Amino acid sequence: MTSTLVHNIGQLVTNDPEHDGTKLGLIERASFLIEDGVIAWAGPDDQAPIHHIKKKIDAQGKTIIPGFVDSHTHMIFAGDRSKEFRARMLGESYTSGGIALTVEKTRAASDEALRSNAKSLFVEAHASGTTTIECKSGYGLTVEDERRSLEIARGFTEETTFLGAHVVPVEYKKNPKDYVDLVCGPMLEAALPFSKWIDVFCDKGAFSAEDARTILKAGMARGLLPRLHANQIQEGQGVRLGVELGVASVDHVSHVSEKDIEALSTSSTVATLLPGAEFSTLSKYPDVRPLLEASIKVALASDCNPGSSYTTNMPFVIAIAVREMHFSPEQALWSATMGGAKALLRDDVGHLGEGARADFSILSADSYIHLAYRPGVNLVEQVWRDGLKIK
Ligand code: NIG
Ligand code: FE
Repeated sequence: MTSTLVHNIGQLVTNDPEHDGTKLGLIERASFLIEDGVIAWAGPDDQAPIHHIKKKIDAQGKTIIPGFVDSHTHMIFAGDRSKEFRARMLGESYTSGGIALTVEKTRAASDEALRSNAKSLFVEAHASGTTTIECKSGYGLTVEDERRSLEIARGFTEETTFLGAHVVPVEYKKNPKDYVDLVCGPMLEAALPFSKWIDVFCDKGAFSAEDARTILKAGMARGLLPRLHANQIQEGQGVRLGVELGVASVDHVSHVSEKDIEALSTSSTVATLLPGAEFSTLSKYPDVRPLLEASIKVALASDCNPGSSYTTNMPFVIAIAVREMHFSPEQALWSATMGGAKALLRDDVGHLGEGARADFSILSADSYIHLAYRPGVNLVEQVWRDGLKIK
């Protein structure tokens, strides 16, 4: 057994309320013990075990937080859409129409090009403290392009999501029902070996709630777990459909009605907010307070994709959530770690309680508050995953 003691931590965020009675489970002047890549103990420095320690890491009084869990990304694509971004900043509005350009570039790209682009994004995400990443297909939209997107994604993460129902591709615009049949039939079949989740973009310009229900049910019947893009562009039935089907998470939820909040509050579905998308589409940020007041679990994720949110940086997401969406610094950090884990139905990541994977970051900061207080500054000095240093 390999035992590593991380000690002299100025402030440790465990997300284990047992330590201080709050959601963040803070310990000041802390240590924790890693055994075989898993947290075996966490507590005050002066109570740290001293026997059988093979290795000691001195955190030099800095802050340690759990690795970020980014539960919503679209990292398998080719090309960029910077011109579209520019046009939006000058006044155009975001529509789902731009997705077609990325689909064209993705179809034309080699497997190697897609893999290498995804690799840079995964490396970039790890460097800013993200240790668990969900990754969707959705820019292939043919049986083979969706299959290979998912196969490539599976090379990087077990949290892979089949999003054949991202938009109806141009060649099916005249007969969209045939595309729904393709997604529920041969495309789903080809996606199965490489997918854990199924997702649908249920919104204006994408799929109706009725189609989304059909597609999610087809995936669930084949053993995939459901999640849903809902209420990004406009209010609709997406959130309530998600709750009805028991999806792990409804994502975006930028426009919610009282009925949506009521439905979510009596369910175990997480609401995942994606502030990077509002930032990049110049849209109004949703207010998190009505969701929290209704005791809804809220996650924060990057939505990394070339159209509506081309960032992998969770500290940036936290900073916007605090500055623009009425998250407290505590809630934002919890949502970017434990919230993401809940949105992926994972209990081994997102926290540093006993038995959790030793996934964490050392911040060159006196407190986690600096994540929002020092926006745009790279505070993530070291990143560890499964007890091994990856940055
Ligand atoms: O989550 N909303 C749907 N899909 C992506 C955007 C895709 C794109 O514009 O390329 C999202 O924001
Ligand atoms: Fe998305």
